[in-house]
Amino acid sequence: MRLTVHMNEHRVGWLIYDCFADQFEFAYDGAWVASPVGFPLAPSLPLAPSRQSNEAHSRSVRIFFENLLPEGRALDSAALMYSVSKNNVAALLAVLGQETAGAIRIVPERASELPECEATPVLRHVRQAELSQRARERATLPFAIWDQKIWLSISGCQDKLAVYQDVAGEWFLVDGGLLVSTHILKPEPTNPLMAGLTSNEFLCMRLARAVGLDVAQVQLHHIPEPVLLITRFDRVEHADKVQRLPTIDGCQALGLPVCGKYERPFAHHHDPRDVRAGASLPSLFHLLDTAARPAAEKISLLRWAVFQVLIGNIDAHAKNLTFFSSSCGLSLAPAYDLVCGRMYVNEQVQETLAMAIGDAFRLEDLSAEEWMSFSRAANLSLRLVKRELTTLSSTTASVLERFWPKGRTPLSWLKSRRRFKWRAESCLRWHGPFPPERRSTWRWKLAIGQSLRAKDHTQPAFLTQRLAR
Ligand SMILES: Nc1ncnc2c1ncn2[C@@H]1O[C@H](COP(=O)(O)OP(=O)(O)OP(=O)(O)O)[C@@H](O)[C@H]1O
Ligand SMILES: [Mg+2]
Repeated sequence: MRLTVHMNEHRVGWLIYDCFADQFEFAYDGAWVASPVGFPLAPSLPLAPSRQSNEAHSRSVRIFFENLLPEGRALDSAALMYSVSKNNVAALLAVLGQETAGAIRIVPERASELPECEATPVLRHVRQAELSQRARERATLPFAIWDQKIWLSISGCQDKLAVYQDVAGEWFLVDGGLLVSTHILKPEPTNPLMAGLTSNEFLCMRLARAVGLDVAQVQLHHIPEPVLLITRFDRVEHADKVQRLPTIDGCQALGLPVCGKYERPFAHHHDPRDVRAGASLPSLFHLLDTAARPAAEKISLLRWAVFQVLIGNIDAHAKNLTFFSSSCGLSLAPAYDLVCGRMYVNEQVQETLAMAIGDAFRLEDLSAEEWMSFSRAANLSLRLVKRELTTLSSTTASVLERFWPKGRTPLSWLKSRRRFKWRAESCLRWHGPFPPERRSTWRWKLAIGQSLRAKDHTQPAFLTQRLAR
């Protein structure tokens, strides 16, 4: 099977799969390699002819492209609808690879001979009433299926749709021609244990923006079911067209398979050699050594990591981090999928960090020593880590204080706010170097989670009002 890989108007190369030998190959187009805008798809797929063995090259190719596929029900639906195995990466890419995260478009070779603007375009209006009905009927009809076709080609486990939003704010499913999606729609999960996820994500994203993080724009719509509308940062709208920006996620950047998005991919029962075989924060920091502006990029990544701890996002894995890629190297894309995961910790969900700080995989195990060991492993100055920790925690504390003044605060928030303030302040009181012999008193089980436990859908209106400024 031969598939053509495009980025905007450029052909990047060919993805070839020999199903009998189960071997993948990626061959760059000579014009892309010679072009000043040409760059490798990932560090594991260099432009220069590969010196890897066929097996190693095939593995790198498979890992890179498999990371583009959705993970959850959309993948099951695609496999079922097109009668292909869920393991058949090439076949799934052929049907799902036209509107992936970033700029890559994967099309069967003959279809790619048509210029993009001549392919038959599809513009399918998604009216709010229909979306509402589809959000309610997900138990019987998967969310990604519309008009007997799968409309999801971006990764992730949750239900979502990539749509184009026109100037009037109407949403459309788009395919073919010059049509490109500009937004992502995420409804509430169907699992009652995850209730409140849309308001949770909305709050955390708006909070991140309020404290100065570069974060994707987000709105919460009620149709009347809550649905999150996220502006795609990998799209730039021009007067006559939408341009796709090349991106890769943390797993693709590290050359890791999807299961490597967690630092401990084998959970707790495993061979000690594989304990931490997945993506880690230090490995992501090391990737930025070759960025055009390594120091600035590393500060952004550090702020991203600290903020995850502050909001109690235990699911901040490597696919929840994206880099823009270009011939100048990697640069961090805006933050997304910011969620207080702590509120979902129960008998079924353990409180385990996707990527450790130092050796701490639990928020309550965080201590000064763990931050020290993290800064050593990531090759960051301790002073920088301390500065970002204290600045971001105090800014977060004061933003929260400003947005939720006493007396106008939801009850659950009031109860937890005092505890949060105490933690942020104890962090701020710490001035000296991290004392190796004394465990820090501050702990990071943050109260945002406790406030969100209320799972109160009336909160978003209140939050929009406050955080939209
Ligand atoms: N604003 C955005 N702009 C461009 N790409 C995005 C944006 N938000 C998310 N993505 C891409 O879509 C993927 C899935 O998004 P997201 O992480 O929000 O979904 P999810 O299903 O909630 O993920 P998870 O599996 O972590 O629960 C991301 O990994 C990223 O590649
Ligand atoms: Mg995600």
